[in-house]
Amino acid sequence: MNKKIPRSYCEQINSQSVGQQVRLCGWVHVRRDLGGLVFIELRDHTGRIQLAADPKRNPAVHDVFLSLRSEYVIAAQGIVQKRPADSVNANLKTGELEIYPETVELLNTCQNLPFQLDEAAQVDESFRLKYRYLDLRRPEMQANFRLRHKVIATIREHLNAQNFTEIETPILTKATPEGARDFLVPSRLNAGLWYALPQSPQLFKQTLMISGFDRYYQIARCFRDEDLRADRQPEFTQIDIEMSFIEEEDILSTTESWLAAAFKCGGVDIPIPLPRYTFKEVMDRFGSDKPDMRFDLEIKDLTKLAAKCQFKVFQEVAASGGFVRGITLPGKANDVSRRTLDEWRDFVKLSGAQGLMWVAYGQDVDGKPQIRSAGLDKYLSAEEMCELQTLAGAKTGDLVLVVAGTYSVVCQALGRLRLKVAEELNLIDHSKNKMFWVLDFPMFEYDKEEKKYVAMHHPFTAPRPEDLPLLETEPEKVRARAYDVVFNGVELGSGSIRIHDQETQSRVFNRIGIDQQAAKEKFGFLLDALATGAPPHGGIALGIDRIVMLLAGAKSIRDVIAFPKTQSGTCLLTDAPSKVSPQQLAELKVGSLVKEKQESKEIQKVP
Ligand code: AMO
Repeated sequence: MNKKIPRSYCEQINSQSVGQQVRLCGWVHVRRDLGGLVFIELRDHTGRIQLAADPKRNPAVHDVFLSLRSEYVIAAQGIVQKRPADSVNANLKTGELEIYPETVELLNTCQNLPFQLDEAAQVDESFRLKYRYLDLRRPEMQANFRLRHKVIATIREHLNAQNFTEIETPILTKATPEGARDFLVPSRLNAGLWYALPQSPQLFKQTLMISGFDRYYQIARCFRDEDLRADRQPEFTQIDIEMSFIEEEDILSTTESWLAAAFKCGGVDIPIPLPRYTFKEVMDRFGSDKPDMRFDLEIKDLTKLAAKCQFKVFQEVAASGGFVRGITLPGKANDVSRRTLDEWRDFVKLSGAQGLMWVAYGQDVDGKPQIRSAGLDKYLSAEEMCELQTLAGAKTGDLVLVVAGTYSVVCQALGRLRLKVAEELNLIDHSKNKMFWVLDFPMFEYDKEEKKYVAMHHPFTAPRPEDLPLLETEPEKVRARAYDVVFNGVELGSGSIRIHDQETQSRVFNRIGIDQQAAKEKFGFLLDALATGAPPHGGIALGIDRIVMLLAGAKSIRDVIAFPKTQSGTCLLTDAPSKVSPQQLAELKVGSLVKEKQESKEIQKVP
């Protein structure tokens, strides 16, 4: 056997390597036996290259090649040569080259594969998650995780260069209601007491500012026990940032610069400074605080007309302070079927709307305007139908969809309908990228179920100083010093300038129903710390998984998390969550809370 030389990787090999001796290690991607010659494609994390064995040239290597199967692990050494012109593989980066190894070592075999790597995209995702080690071997997945690494490395480099200090905060911490449900961990040494896994490092990073660290960041793992969606996991990663002695502008510009650098390494150019919109503007124009601006379909206000027309539904809505608004679908007057319109009507009802009205500003066969509508023309005069057309910005040939109701119902119904229609009618320009800030969020929103005001961001967000007098009297008018960054309709991150004085913090707690006693129990350490010379500070956190998902063009956040959970919060690879032994529970002094079967609703007392 010839002397082992340092290992090369498949895609390092190029035309300049011809004539050189190389050593490659990896997996057998495919094997082709042509009766005499045997070819294999060797794969490592960089790519693939063809190896060939000729029984006449090297019977020992040929024998090993005959025994190889998909996903066997080998090391091979030989001289790189050009392939004959008629066997060049244009689909392979190394397709003009091949190696007839002088030596080959079989390092490991592979038993039956649950699925072929090439077919993984077609198999059920649960299968891919169960055999995640194989799924992650696929080049697409390898690329996602290398991109993730590059994005995180770029962010780290950028922040390090700007004098940020990376500090880790605890994973076992105190339960603090920050919106979602906590994951709880029993304490063995303090029986009956519980830690919570952090929903975010929010309070620790503020504490670090009070300690004088000035510029903090952390690639922070966060845990939230909430319902999962394509862009949500119970365990996810934030790039978490906090700065002292700063204003909104400092956070926005710092964030934009590293974010643009991170996107650039994912191949997306984001021009900065980013455009800015107020919360009210995006809600009015797009019905969402994270609108997708890659297409128009802006919401138009028709309330002026509704208030003066004879249509009772419109009149009543306008008189009670509600809104009548619509979106215009260009050129769709005759293109949308009744069935689709009925489906859209049912869809807006899910947002609380009573129904969906529509007007089609079409043409008859002679090209004369012909207006059709779902009953609206019965109540609106011809002039009013024209005024509606003008207010909706509709041209001949357009279809106007109208919803009436309270501000929140109209925004939500039209905001969601706008997205649905754009997807169904293929109106999203996927070559565009739209990233922007949303500012001036309201500080509070009214929770109808809880019958109280809750913080729209979180209760540590500072109110605008000029709105402070309204805190107790007109909380809905108080604006927060908060900001969100949105990319193509996805909320990437959010942050705020924080309250840095004890009195304002107590007033905000009070406003959202956390009285002095409860505040002391839950956030006593923060209130105490604020009274020890807390500097003005603020920060932001962005979801790394979401950023990488968007840059990788992945459909789900699960494709950029190495070992993600399913929709129902399970890890199919390890089978977590799983039962634990009675001894473990006894040690923790925790009774088996749920009797035997998980379906059982019967709860036993914690001893
Ligand atoms: P927020 O709760 O808005 O703010 O979270 C910030 C960002 O984290 C990401 N994110 C998630 N990603 C995946 N799965 C989830 N379940 C999930 N939840 C949130 C999103 C989101 O925009 N402490 C504040 C930040 C601050 O004020 O500094 C916070 O956590 O991309």
